[in-house]
Amino acid sequence: MKDIKKITCIGAGYVGGPTMSVIAQKNPNVEITVVDLNEQRIAAWNDADLSKLPVYEPGLDAVVGEARGRNLFFSTDVDKAIDEADMIFISVNTPTKTYGKGKGQAADLKFIELCARQIAAVAKSDKIVVEKSTLPVRTAEALKSILDHTGNGVNFHILSNPEFLAEGTAVTDLHNPDRVLIGGEDAEAIEALVQVYEAWVPRERILTTNLWSSELSKLVANAFLAQRVSSINAISELCEVTGANVDEVAHAIGKDSRIGSKFLKASVGFGGSCFQKDILNLVYIARSYHLDAVADYWEQVILLNDHQKTRFAERIIKTMYNTVNGKQIAFLGWAFKKDTNDTRESAAIYVADHLLDEEASIIVYDPKVTAEQIYRDLDYLGTRTAEENRRLVTVVNTPTEAVTGAHAIAILTEWDEFKDYDWASIKEGMKRPSFLFDGRKLLNGAELQKIGFSYYAIGE
Ligand code: NAD
Ligand code: UGA
Repeated sequence: MKDIKKITCIGAGYVGGPTMSVIAQKNPNVEITVVDLNEQRIAAWNDADLSKLPVYEPGLDAVVGEARGRNLFFSTDVDKAIDEADMIFISVNTPTKTYGKGKGQAADLKFIELCARQIAAVAKSDKIVVEKSTLPVRTAEALKSILDHTGNGVNFHILSNPEFLAEGTAVTDLHNPDRVLIGGEDAEAIEALVQVYEAWVPRERILTTNLWSSELSKLVANAFLAQRVSSINAISELCEVTGANVDEVAHAIGKDSRIGSKFLKASVGFGGSCFQKDILNLVYIARSYHLDAVADYWEQVILLNDHQKTRFAERIIKTMYNTVNGKQIAFLGWAFKKDTNDTRESAAIYVADHLLDEEASIIVYDPKVTAEQIYRDLDYLGTRTAEENRRLVTVVNTPTEAVTGAHAIAILTEWDEFKDYDWASIKEGMKRPSFLFDGRKLLNGAELQKIGFSYYAIGE
């Protein structure tokens, strides 16, 4: 296998952009081109002002600043990039299907298939095609069939190389991964990709498996992580009725080295583009093999998560004398977690929707999410008209505007800055009683109660 000199990545999103930026940073002799159909997104990746990159991730601006223009390029010319590459990553979106068979559960692979057909049509030399997107197990079989049947007689080797980065910590996760996973059948192709990662990842952390184990491991990793969150969230409800404190319980069980302390933070519910989508996909795959007990087991992780979001909204309503009609509720945070501008499947969207059904008046402040995005998220639900959403929801640029005159504050994202606010003066500017619903158990409840807040936190 010849050395990899040129890599192309199709899809310049939350995965393709940061992943390729780090690969380029660590492999200055390999030329990397990231392509996308979305012209606006590519223009943003090329913006001279690094604060305008389309993905907000701590440290990403420095990585892009180092590699862009040297050996990292962003372009909309997909054909040219395919033609020139030795190795092509496919990092396009694989959302849950919204139509037809598997609607609401199966992964929609239309974007993957389009990429495969385009690669087959354009390629005039042998290529290694790498699945970077998260895919149902055995997708490589379909990809290979499309490539071989519609191609120009050149050889394609398929590898699975799922991505495990988490948003908000993408750059540190990429710089220092727990493991890199590469599945494949061809030893030379696997070795070519191992070499790319070996530029900075110790060899013993690069795992190689067969294709199907690699594809399935990605879905299973996300299912296990989400299951931990649903497990601790289930316990948070039990804590609330028994006087136990969920953080104390999490700390106590996490000290057991077999359980471990990470990913045990109770919350208003997990969000993000992948946990729900990937578990639904796992459930769908299990059902398609008639493994109903397996499917039911994993589906419960999603059901509990939905319950957690609903019960937080209902708790707000119940505490505020069973009506929020016309009351001003300040949302602190809209992103699905801190340190990202991503709002996909954020718990905030569903909590807001529930409160808006009750005609609450919501004022949102998030340090990184734009008003356009917040309205897009609400409009996408289709629960009410765009005009209604704009009548009931206001988006502001400072926390002061959100909380002044509010009946209640709800914390939906665990942004660090919320911890440092002057809560005593916030309390002064609010209506009384001043309610604070902490969906992230972020603040010091005892201190807030001393200030005079009516404070409620998940799991307390
Ligand atoms: P994204 O929506 O941010 O980016 C995907 C990009 O692909 C979009 O910009 C879209 O325009 C582009 N695209 C789609 N079809 C195309 C085509 N035919 N040609 C060129 N460009 C095309 O998605 P993402 O968050 O980067 O996720 C990509 C994949 O990675 C998904 O399968 C996801 O499950 C997986 N993943 C995501 C994360 C995460 O943190 N977001 C982490 C690990 C894995
Ligand atoms: C997750 C996984 O952590 C990544 O390994 C994976 O690559 C990625 O999904 C993916 O495939 O997309 P991400 O969704 O970016 O990453 O962020 P997480 O840190 O996993 O958080 C997911 C959600 O769970 C967030 O809403 C977060 O607030 C919530 N969460 C997480 C909790 O409520 N409690 C916790 O203890 C941890």
